[in-house]
Amino acid sequence: MLKTALRSVFLRLEQVCEKFFGPALNPWVHVGSLGWFLFWIVTVTGIYIYVFFDTGVTQAYASLEYLSREQWYLGGIMRSLHRYASDAMVVVVMLHLLREFSMDRMRGNRWFPWVTGVPLLWFLYACGITGYWLVWDQLAQYVAIATTEWLDSIGIFAEPIARNFLDSSHLAGRFFTLMAYIHIAVPLIMLLFMWVHIQRHAHSRVNPPRTLGFAVLGTLVALALVEPAMSQAPANLDRAPFEVGFDWFYLTVYPLLDVVSGRVLWAALIGGSVFLTLLPWLPPLHKAPPAVVHLDNCNGCGRCFADCPFGAITMVGRTDGAEFDQEARVDADMCMSCGICVGACPTATPFRRASALVPGIELPTDPIAGLRDRVVAATGPLQGNDRVVVFRCAHAGNLDTLADPGVAVVPMPCVAMLPPSFIDLVISRKHADGVLIAGCAEEDCFERLGNRWTDERIASQRDPHLRDRVDRDRVAVSWASPAQQHRTRETLGQFRQHLRTAFASPRPGRTGVAWRAQLRELAAPLRFVGAAAVLGAVAVLIGWFATRPAYAYLHHDQALLKLSFSHAAQPLKPCRHYSPQELAKLPFNQRRATTCERGRWPVYLELDLDGRTIHRATHRPAGLWDDGPSTVYASFRVPAGLHRLEVRLRDSGRATGFDYASSATVSLTPGQNFVVDFRGTEGGFQFGRAPAHGPVVQETPP
Ligand code: HEM
Ligand code: SF4
Ligand code: SF4
Repeated sequence: MLKTALRSVFLRLEQVCEKFFGPALNPWVHVGSLGWFLFWIVTVTGIYIYVFFDTGVTQAYASLEYLSREQWYLGGIMRSLHRYASDAMVVVVMLHLLREFSMDRMRGNRWFPWVTGVPLLWFLYACGITGYWLVWDQLAQYVAIATTEWLDSIGIFAEPIARNFLDSSHLAGRFFTLMAYIHIAVPLIMLLFMWVHIQRHAHSRVNPPRTLGFAVLGTLVALALVEPAMSQAPANLDRAPFEVGFDWFYLTVYPLLDVVSGRVLWAALIGGSVFLTLLPWLPPLHKAPPAVVHLDNCNGCGRCFADCPFGAITMVGRTDGAEFDQEARVDADMCMSCGICVGACPTATPFRRASALVPGIELPTDPIAGLRDRVVAATGPLQGNDRVVVFRCAHAGNLDTLADPGVAVVPMPCVAMLPPSFIDLVISRKHADGVLIAGCAEEDCFERLGNRWTDERIASQRDPHLRDRVDRDRVAVSWASPAQQHRTRETLGQFRQHLRTAFASPRPGRTGVAWRAQLRELAAPLRFVGAAAVLGAVAVLIGWFATRPAYAYLHHDQALLKLSFSHAAQPLKPCRHYSPQELAKLPFNQRRATTCERGRWPVYLELDLDGRTIHRATHRPAGLWDDGPSTVYASFRVPAGLHRLEVRLRDSGRATGFDYASSATVSLTPGQNFVVDFRGTEGGFQFGRAPAHGPVVQETPP
């Protein structure tokens, strides 16, 4: 249901774009290869930026400012391209995912690119998020704190990593530098996965057509000039930003952290990814039986191996003692039963005797002898001097309605299953006056390579090719999506007209490419303007959502209150002195004054804001034996102004009362990042870092 709805939306949009870009340059059919193209843009621009980038947290901001302001004509453009190409990558990858899903190109052998695509999503987001971190502006500050708090919610780190960004006194440059390295390492892993992603497919397209590539690059450069990517105000950990210009492509899920807990969001994303991974088997594809090799007729020429789009065929040493070196072998799990290998096999010729019409390879459910019978039977009743047999692909929509007294329609799994010798048979034995091959949209064959191989076989560019004696004016092709069936109908009409008129008087047969109809097209200037408008609209969308709408992190009358420290509570049992007798029994090298059992009490903590308890929790000690410090990290958005804070801590396992308690009246300014710390060895709680945080009135502990 969802799939069908999505599919019809895609087909409609693709149809509109095809009017402007033409079938070969339609961006929709190149979203996968555009992903690769954008990856290279991001890589090249990233290397350039890195040359000028200072990985130190204090210098990073200035080094990028230099690029954007002093070297705007090159460095600034590189930086903008880096950002916008990364955003565009999210767009094309998401469209690629949805498109493959809607076209149902994820099941059977296609599970492999689907499943390897899922980690690519995670890598893509990891690259983008760490990238924003490196700018060390206010967005970076938000990203650093939100990401580390979110990671901490998993509860696997002994000490919250968000403490690295607690306030300017805690800022850890090393953690920042680590991000720079992650930002470089993840794309390398991503490239490896991108390579793995296409391994199961033969002849994968990893480069978009050159014209389309230049058009996309040109659009991104134009966007970079109109809306250069800039940093926001520099990060200042002592203040929390009120709002940040937000990249909605990469940070989409972050605002959800305001409404659901970090753990829930992790569970949703991991659960979503697992579900996505399992989609190819929900339900599994009921495949037709795989292709089978008939060794008696296989001469080991390897053409089936060269043409199989799914890498299902391998050539192996001969096993039947025949004089040939090799034979074809089909991997049943990888075979998608498209039949393209049958069209490639030189022994699949209908000119052979019926009894001998068993090719080297064929589909058990669609034997080639049966195809010849169907062609002969379907063309028999045809009348007129414009009789056409249409070989139609199972994925090109319902073309059976094309049949009429002068037209026979023969369905097949993929038109490339048709050996060119069948076209020769139809024309030379006069079963029909012309052959129309109707397959999927150009560059978008459901079986990946069907229309490409068919075109090349007819144009004698690929073996087995159509013999020269077949007049190419009697062979037409129509490449159209299921939403463009009217085009095939129009092609058929024009083709029959052509058959009636072109052959009225004798003429030399034409070789070369197949006949193509003159379909109505927009005038060239209109196409150009339309294509520019589509690319421009995408650029506006990318430029807009790369920073807008801003995300309101804190209201203008709020401050941030953080409670964060690490404290080793008292041991479960107090240490005691060894007696002289005990000491005497100990080996010399193990003698110490005291002995302590492992294990500490948890830290129990309460924080009241103006008499209302806003934090009450027990924090377990770290370590396998619960003998490490307990770590506390909690963050609250509170109204700015005068507040009374009361904090109480128990670290000795006592049943009632507290070991430390402190209170203070603090005046918080809007946007202030106020930290309540605890240092057992320095008298207990500390409220903020006076004087940087404004007036603090600390009262005596009880
Ligand atoms: C960095 C991200 C990605 C890039 C650059 C990328 C690129 C490509 C390319 C170049 C192809 C080959 C097209 C061809 O065979 O001619 C492909 C195929 C495919 N991709 Fe991706 N892809 C990415 C992410 C994903 C994701 C996230 C999914 C889904 C979870 C996915 C699912 C598929 C599927 C199912 C195919 C096979 C299509 C077919 O058999 O016709 N890809 N991808
Ligand atoms: S039918 Fe032939 S070409 Fe198609 S996937 Fe199977 S082996 Fe490959
Ligand atoms: S194309 Fe036919 S003859 Fe050639 S290797 Fe494949 S099965 Fe054998």
